[in-house]
Amino acid sequence: MVETGRLPADGVRRMFDRIAPIYDAMNRVMTAGLDRRWRRITVAETVRTGDRVLDACCGTGDLAVAALRGGAREVVGLDFSDAMLERARRKDTRIEWLRGDVLALPFEDASFDAATVGFGIRNVDDLEAGLRELRRVLRPGGRLGVLEITTPRGVLAPFYRVWFDRVVPLLGRVLPGGAAYTYLPASVRRFPGPEALRDAFERNGFRGVRFRLFAGGIVALHVGEVEE
Ligand SMILES: C[S@@+](CC[C@H](N)C(=O)[O-])C[C@H]1O[C@@H](n2cnc3c(N)ncnc32)[C@H](O)[C@@H]1O
Repeated sequence: MVETGRLPADGVRRMFDRIAPIYDAMNRVMTAGLDRRWRRITVAETVRTGDRVLDACCGTGDLAVAALRGGAREVVGLDFSDAMLERARRKDTRIEWLRGDVLALPFEDASFDAATVGFGIRNVDDLEAGLRELRRVLRPGGRLGVLEITTPRGVLAPFYRVWFDRVVPLLGRVLPGGAAYTYLPASVRRFPGPEALRDAFERNGFRGVRFRLFAGGIVALHVGEVEE
């Protein structure tokens, strides 16, 4: 879960190519290992046994692997960064790993039962277009689960600001290849809060949209179903 302030798509792709070698380690450090639990919950709330699942913006593949372990029959992981995909391929050979853009998915309409996006949708140039494209490839009644960093309110907000605005960029500066982490705070700030993201789901053809917050509201999971 790393990121961009506002970079063009090609800049985002190159940035992820550069940080791929340290991406998994940074996730574990930044979330104190909690990201694994959030991924399992994302799968439990989005994927049903026997589903054909798309994990878009799959990066190094942890959410796709969690979907397979969670009972999916078939999983496709898609990302536009070759370096991230290369690491994903080493994790599981049963998953089909594809290079592609979430804004122009190389699949027929209604070809998946469920889709997941972990810490990826925030980087996509056009959020609404991304949601529409994900809805297009889901069958009616299919589910989308989006796990994403969000900005907490209340008592945790000051701690969060210190962590994301000071500690994470510092880690980015001291770790080899970590410069991209200096962009993380800006990308979170410009991303819609949980209610606004729920509204964006609804505007783009999802119903029954619900969200839950983790770690005191630092991370949000939104799940919605495609209108039938
Ligand atoms: C922060 S990583 C998340 C990786 C993984 N899903 C996880 O849960 O750790 C974001 C990923 O989104 C990918 N990405 C960003 N925009 C994309 C797009 N338009 N199409 C495909 N992949 C994209 C990046 O290449 C990167 O691998």
